[in-house]
Amino acid sequence: MEELSRDTRNILRLQLPTDPRWVNLADKSMEEILTDHAYCEQKATASCISLIQRYSSREKLVAELSPVVTEEWGHFRMVLAELQKRKLKLGRQRKDEYVNALLDFQQKGGDAEGRMLDQLLTMALIEARSCERFKRLSEGLEDAYMQKFYRRFMESEAGHYTLFIELAETYIDREKVRRRWKEWLEYEATVMQTMDVRGDRIH
Ligand SMILES: [Fe+2]
Ligand SMILES: [Fe+2]
Repeated sequence: MEELSRDTRNILRLQLPTDPRWVNLADKSMEEILTDHAYCEQKATASCISLIQRYSSREKLVAELSPVVTEEWGHFRMVLAELQKRKLKLGRQRKDEYVNALLDFQQKGGDAEGRMLDQLLTMALIEARSCERFKRLSEGLEDAYMQKFYRRFMESEAGHYTLFIELAETYIDREKVRRRWKEWLEYEATVMQTMDVRGDRIH
């Protein structure tokens, strides 16, 4: 498992780093960033629950994702507490262009294995990109408290993206997982390229 993790980490390479202007824009819109972040955590929780429901016969998946549900909901509560501390409102959920663009790339019909693979790789990718964005925030925000705040999220999401790849490799041929992951990385880079750099969103 150790070896698999190390090996897995090597292939987790986002193709396009975040535009360095993003963190400066985000620093100026902390209310929107916190609101958007809160919904990202909420969606992560819901997605893990839905994977457990869909693949209830996969024991490892159920066992590994159950604590992640608790963790992601804990993240939501941490962000909500930060909003409340600042006397800010949660606000409304916005249209998630990034995630919607990724969902477009998912295999919809065809074999069940291919569909499961894409669902797991979508999660891995969102975790990886979120982790990269949290890293930017933890390094680039002005406020030392907020740097620390985002560092904790960064560390936690780093563990999640490897988990989703490992789950895929548990049930599906490793070569197939890697081939598809490369396609996902390339696709994600094109999505990032076409999206505006906006400081009011995590992605
Ligand atoms: Fe999270
Ligand atoms: Fe996560």
